[in-house]
Amino acid sequence: MFRFTRRLAIVVAVVTFSAAVAGGVVAATRSSDEAALAPARQPADRAIERRVNALLAQMTLKEKLEQIQLLPDFKVTPEEIRNGLGSILSVTDPAQIREYQRIAVEESRLKIPLLFAFDTIHGFRTVFPIPLATGASFDPRAAVDDARYGARESAAVGLKQTYAPMVDVSHEPRWGRISEAAGEDPYLNSVMAAARVKGTQGGDYSGRNKLIASPKHFAAYGQPEAGRDYNTTDMSEQRLRNFYLPPFKAAIDAGADTAMCAFNALNGVPACGNRYLLTRILKGEWDFDGFVESDWTAVAELRACPPQNPADVPECGHGVAADGPDAAALALNAGVDSEMTSTFIRDFGSQLLGEGRISMRRIDDAVRRILRVKFRAGLFEHPYSQFTPEQAEAQMLKPDALAAARKAAGRSMVLLRNEGGVLPLDPSKKTAVIGPLAKNKHDMLGPWWGRGDDNDAVTVFDGIDEQNTAATTYAEGCKLSNTEVGAPGGHDPEGCGSDAGFAEAVAVASAADQVVLALGETREMSGEANSRSTLDLPGRQEELLRAIKATGKPFAVVLFNGRPLALENIVDDAPAILEAWFPGVQAGHAVADVVFGKVNPGGKLPASFPYRVGQVPIYYNHEPTGRPCNKSAKYNSQHRDIPSCDPLFRFGFGLSYTTFDVSNLRLSSSSVGRNGRVSASVDVANTGGREGDEVVQLYINDPVASISQPVRRLRGFERVTLAAGEQRTVTFKLDRSDFGFYDNRGRFVVEPGRIDVYAGNSSAAELKQSFTVR
Ligand code: BGC
Repeated sequence: MFRFTRRLAIVVAVVTFSAAVAGGVVAATRSSDEAALAPARQPADRAIERRVNALLAQMTLKEKLEQIQLLPDFKVTPEEIRNGLGSILSVTDPAQIREYQRIAVEESRLKIPLLFAFDTIHGFRTVFPIPLATGASFDPRAAVDDARYGARESAAVGLKQTYAPMVDVSHEPRWGRISEAAGEDPYLNSVMAAARVKGTQGGDYSGRNKLIASPKHFAAYGQPEAGRDYNTTDMSEQRLRNFYLPPFKAAIDAGADTAMCAFNALNGVPACGNRYLLTRILKGEWDFDGFVESDWTAVAELRACPPQNPADVPECGHGVAADGPDAAALALNAGVDSEMTSTFIRDFGSQLLGEGRISMRRIDDAVRRILRVKFRAGLFEHPYSQFTPEQAEAQMLKPDALAAARKAAGRSMVLLRNEGGVLPLDPSKKTAVIGPLAKNKHDMLGPWWGRGDDNDAVTVFDGIDEQNTAATTYAEGCKLSNTEVGAPGGHDPEGCGSDAGFAEAVAVASAADQVVLALGETREMSGEANSRSTLDLPGRQEELLRAIKATGKPFAVVLFNGRPLALENIVDDAPAILEAWFPGVQAGHAVADVVFGKVNPGGKLPASFPYRVGQVPIYYNHEPTGRPCNKSAKYNSQHRDIPSCDPLFRFGFGLSYTTFDVSNLRLSSSSVGRNGRVSASVDVANTGGREGDEVVQLYINDPVASISQPVRRLRGFERVTLAAGEQRTVTFKLDRSDFGFYDNRGRFVVEPGRIDVYAGNSSAAELKQSFTVR
């Protein structure tokens, strides 16, 4: 019951973030809209526990070990399924899923249904904007929609689990996987994580169009050294708990019933062999009764590589296990319940049990967790999709999903610059659409495109052309490379290395009234295993931009990318910059909506954009130093060759076609007990001439604490739509969960003293009030 209550409390917070608000006052966090809410999940169900135990009692050791096994599409055989295989990942053909499930429920001894999993990260067939973009929307509704339609389409083919949400906070733009979560802030990531779990699972994931969510990668995968994927992570306990764990906690509290352990080592202990993370924190402190699957071959990778011929053992490296049995024992004992791809727990389980290196109790615990989730998912009642394979196709790309994807993409775009009001462009003028990403479908889907098909995507050119009443013209300028790392020529896979197409681009621009310049990265440049050592626009795109500028035509740069970019070299040359990320299937429509002003951009940066890569890691929620940066003095913490103490574009920043004024921050009281609450209200007014969205943001700082606290921490936000001249009041509630923090012994502490509260429309928010915690 305790758990149930906790979950309910979190759902309240999530739903009120996105609550539509009538009248002039917006309650941004933790208001009391409880009546409308179903609990994330029913309290632990005794009937299910009885069924789990009854089934477990019938299982042989071999069947238990099979249940722990999770195999990818290419390793599955019917024989394996007859033996009692537990789960399968990445089979998405509905007929194949149905056939495999038929074998499981008709031909295996105990008829336990398989669990089919897939990486539906930002859409299955209807690809939504990448999660970093959805983070930029500061709109949990966009994340709910993404997850909800992704679940609906996935479930239609017979899938029942998604390896999402990815909730890794990251201060590393070099890391390609920063594209997969909501950026550098734990609070924004927590809100989005809970929203995604809610969208994926609904109130009850046994629903026929729902999936089980699996937050990943537990934990601290977002901070690999040098931003190189899979690399070591080493951090203090307080950092881990204050920055990296909160989104996982939010996802679990929202009802996520599975979780994936990460590839990386944390403080020397690989996450999938890390008992502290998996058993002590996740299953112990957080009371998580679902199951943990290992990432891909993460169990095998616990092994040391043979010194002579490392290539002989394809998956090895961490060096915390001597061999396969050792790795299996370490992972299982640490808390891994389901082994993905490698097969060591299954293959060596019996031997390890005989040697006393693992216990039957722990095997039973792992199997119990897996069965519990399968029962909760309703798999025993309805193992198949509600749709036949023939019907499944008709569930894809439905109009409501496409409309939601277009809306989410528009809401994710961030206007970084708009000198002289270049944007919005006039749709009755001749428009040249130029650049390597202008007539492009493939890259619009971004990394982790699910079962998205390039052909589904709307190009920028087509989107603009559809809304432009005058002529639309096109030139590519140069060609980016889609070469994968590791492929021949993949060591420098940028492309756009030649200016041969520039003359044509200049001619096309010169003949038009205005230009949309579509630049950025290819989708192969971000996502897993795609780290970069620079953050500039790849290839010669900066030169292309300058060539277009020289034509004297009004132009707007639209950027497509999966990470913060370093725009120092172009920022002064581009009068307008619209950050569009990878917008998904509706890319061209959404870009046209914003470029022509049908949609007024209201997104904000979910991660800092540095001047240049050498500033990395640079993030707004950094701790202070004894020598804070001061450009007019020496002997303080700065880069001598960068003109500013700040990033080029800060967290929470984004412009609009209208203007806003955020004013009059006031607190409900000037002092509060440790367990008390204080509310902060602030007025926001649209002071410009057209309707628009503003994201009101609330930050706090604890200036004197036993552990140096981040200079600012986001603790509330609300995206509001205001008509020209309209004003509203937004109210945020703060309590101990906001003004307390974790110390280096892993304890949550609330210390007496002053808390400064800042409100505004970016992380530079200037309105300030203070209260005291008694
Ligand atoms: C990735 C995971 C993913 C898994 C299964 C791994 O390589 O790190 O995020 O869920 O593959 O596709």
